[in-house]
Amino acid sequence: MKTVDAVIAKKKAGEKIVSLTAYDFISARILDEVGIDIILVGDSAANVFAGEKTTLPITMEEMLYHTKVVARAVKNSLVIADMPFLSYQVSVETAVYNAGRFLQVGACGVKLEGGKPMAQTVKRLVDLGIPVMGHLGLTPQSIHKFGGYKTQGVGEEAGARMLEDAKLLESAGCFSIVLEKIPRELARRITGAINIPTIGIGAGPYCDGQVLVLHDMLGLFEEFTPRFVKRYASLSEEMRNAVKQYKKEVEGGIFPDEEHSFD
Ligand code: KIV
Repeated sequence: MKTVDAVIAKKKAGEKIVSLTAYDFISARILDEVGIDIILVGDSAANVFAGEKTTLPITMEEMLYHTKVVARAVKNSLVIADMPFLSYQVSVETAVYNAGRFLQVGACGVKLEGGKPMAQTVKRLVDLGIPVMGHLGLTPQSIHKFGGYKTQGVGEEAGARMLEDAKLLESAGCFSIVLEKIPRELARRITGAINIPTIGIGAGPYCDGQVLVLHDMLGLFEEFTPRFVKRYASLSEEMRNAVKQYKKEVEGGIFPDEEHSFD
C-alpha cells in the first residue's frame, strides 16, 4: 500500500502524482493495476453514481460503502475517502469519529474541503494519526455560497487568500491539497509556496499532480463535461451500442445460441 510519505516524496523528486476517483470494486482494481498513485473515493459519487444535482445529499453510510468496496480492490494505491457534507463541519469530535470510520473500512486517509475554518480540525485529525488531504478553490460542498461552478481565486485579493489558506493547511498537517478550478498562475504560485503536493483539477499544468473524475475522463458521465476534463474514451457510446445489439439479438432469436448453451 502506498503511503502519504511516498506521495510527498514524488513532489520532492519532481515526479507528477496521478489520481482518479473510484466508487466501485472493478474500477478501483483497474486503477490500482495501472499504478494510479491516489484513488479518491470522491463525494462526486453523489452526482456521478447516484444522479444527484450536487454533492450535498450523500451520507456517511453511503460514502463508507463506496470506500469499503474500493479499498477491498486496492493493493498498491493510496485510498483517500472524501468526507461528505456535515460529517466534519459540526465539531472537531464528529470529524474525528467520522474520519476514523473511513480508516476502519480501509481508507488510508480522508479529504475535506475548506481552508482556515478547517485548520483546527485538520490538526486534530493528523495529531491522531489520520492523514488529511485538503481541498481549496471550487469546493463543491459550498456550491450555494459560490452560486454556481465558477472559477475561484480570481484577482489579487482572492488569490492571496487562497495562498494563505494553502499555507495554513500545510501547517495544520495536510499531506496534499486538491486545487479545483482556479487560474493556472495561482496554482503555480501555491505549488511553489508549499512543500506538500498540490493536486489539480481545472488548475492547469503547474500542480504537482492531477485528479479527474473517472466517469468524466472515460466519457461515461454525459450530463455535463467541464472544460477542464479531457475525454480519453467514449464508454457511454460503447455501452449503448452493446446494449442495443444485445436487445436486437434477443428479440431476433439470435442469442442465446448453441455456443452459449448446454447439451
Ligand atoms: O468528489 C470528487 O470527486 C472530488 C474530486 C473531483 C477532487 O472531490
